[in-house]
Amino acid sequence: MTAVSSILLSLFSLYPALTLLSALVVYITTTRIQQYRRLSHIPGPAGTGISWMWNSRAVISGKAYKYYADATERYGAIARIAPNHLITSSPELWAHINAVRSPYKRAEWFYHAARFEPGKDNVFTECDTATHDNRRKKLAAGYAGKENPTLEPSIDGNVADFIHLIRTKYAAPASSAHATLPMDMATKMQYFSMDVISEVALGAAFGNLKANADVNDHLKALEEGLRINNKSFGLGTSWIRGVPILGKAISPSETDERGYGRMMAEARKSIVARKLKGTDERSDMLASFIRHGVSGDDLFQEIFETLLAGSDTTSASLRVIVLYILSHPRVYAKLQAEIDATVKARTAAPTSSDIIPDAEVRKLPYLGVVVREAMRVHPPVVCLFSRVVPKGGDVVTVEGKDVFLPGDTMIGCSAWGMHRNNKTLYGADADVFRPERWFVDESIPEEKDRLARMYKTNDLLFGYGRWVCLGRVVALIEIHKAIFELLRNFDFAITNPHEPWTLFETMGLFAIGDMYVNVTERS
Ligand code: HEM
Ligand SMILES: *[C@@H]1O[C@H](CO)[C@@H](O)[C@H](O)[C@H]1NC(C)=O
Ligand SMILES: *[C@@H]1O[C@H](CO)[C@@H](O)[C@H](O)[C@H]1NC(C)=O
Repeated sequence: MTAVSSILLSLFSLYPALTLLSALVVYITTTRIQQYRRLSHIPGPAGTGISWMWNSRAVISGKAYKYYADATERYGAIARIAPNHLITSSPELWAHINAVRSPYKRAEWFYHAARFEPGKDNVFTECDTATHDNRRKKLAAGYAGKENPTLEPSIDGNVADFIHLIRTKYAAPASSAHATLPMDMATKMQYFSMDVISEVALGAAFGNLKANADVNDHLKALEEGLRINNKSFGLGTSWIRGVPILGKAISPSETDERGYGRMMAEARKSIVARKLKGTDERSDMLASFIRHGVSGDDLFQEIFETLLAGSDTTSASLRVIVLYILSHPRVYAKLQAEIDATVKARTAAPTSSDIIPDAEVRKLPYLGVVVREAMRVHPPVVCLFSRVVPKGGDVVTVEGKDVFLPGDTMIGCSAWGMHRNNKTLYGADADVFRPERWFVDESIPEEKDRLARMYKTNDLLFGYGRWVCLGRVVALIEIHKAIFELLRNFDFAITNPHEPWTLFETMGLFAIGDMYVNVTERS
């Protein structure tokens, strides 16, 4: 060793630049080799062991979820997508990683890119487990709807507004020769989900449906926000936004006149106005958050996160479900028949707005599996949700084999692979939309067992355990009611069957547009 260092020293005194350069090359090469070796027992697409190129290509393509699904399909339930990043399509492994007492942590690499202000966290972006759990505890009651007796009526009012909008602006009378005005279902779904979540969170809907417009540019702002995050994430520069002054300069600001910054300013105004009304009563999420000790800027971060997390996800789900129904006439007819029979058989007094109550709509067996099946074949949220393996590593069992995951490795979810591709779990036609697959013969023990695993896997669409979706209750009430009432009142057809919608994925969320439908009133 001393011999080597004395040689190096004398070399350095003779050729300083050259020696430093070679030392650097040796250092980079050895660390690359070490990085490659650490996970070399886990296969993945070519090049992923030594660089992030493959993943950058996937992200920039706007179809990363397909790249990930291909990887898990080809290389198995755990695949490598970058030198220090794995993905899995195994429902059992993903549940293990996300368990309530899991030693895995959220990876800053993924979650901090989803912050909307540099350096500031909300429950979704918080990577420190203890801080997250503490935050989450204060929010849970507000999200659960138990402290919000107006939750269901708020949703009903917006469903009624949605139906009214379609009836007055777009629906042609049944069997008539009237001209049709195609309606962009993608936009209207976004109006609807944004109105619902603003009313549930802040006590008053933003009013998109009533105005039939993107009031305050919220939707434009959301898209802009996604684009900002997508760019810095795709280019690997999201850390720049965490740098104090530079970060502020490239991030949206509340003094902006339009877009994302304006939306943040509007949200802050709504919060201030809402707080003046008092928060002692059980009413909306904001009141519940305050009663449980959320205050100051944290309150803004959490409410703004609710608006973001609660709108794009639900509207993407609704668009997916509607497109799959409209494009499968057999399913469409069967579902509409179930809805009509339900309406006919209803003995309960109509609610004030005559929107189907949640307790009733959730009993419809076919609607239930149509919703599950559509979200299975096209998961509406396909984020990586990267986690970090605990320091000492973890031995996990996947498909009967033990695999060692070294400490500090990142591992994320291959959602498309998990939900759409798994033929062992869902059968040979796993990639086909067929709601009946959920009706298995439960008198056969293996089938009953498989059905239980199907449900458990499908539930992972909303995450699991420590980080499971806080808005699941709200989302599912919204989705079931909206689908029921849309099909009860109208007939829909896709305006442009050759291109039913435009779709782009960024950071695991789908930007969907131009989903035109022709609507006719049902008699
Ligand atoms: C169909 C619609 C939705 C889907 C598929 C969905 C999916 C998810 C998933 C997979 C997670 C887990 C994230 C992780 O593991 O880090 C999550 C978390 C979360 N979701 Fe949803 N979500 C939906 C609707 C909503 C709605 C309507 C709201 C708000 C009312 C909401 C609020 C949240 C929040 C706050 C978290 C963070 C929970 C935590 O960090 O502990 N989501 N969601
Ligand atoms: C398919 O699902 C089964 C049952 O949940 C699971 O054990 C298996 O690992 C999955 N396959 C892949 C490739 O993810
Ligand atoms: C996302 O970012 C990539 C570049 O990183 C770009 O090519 C793509 O168009 C962006 N997508 C959207 C919807 O802005």
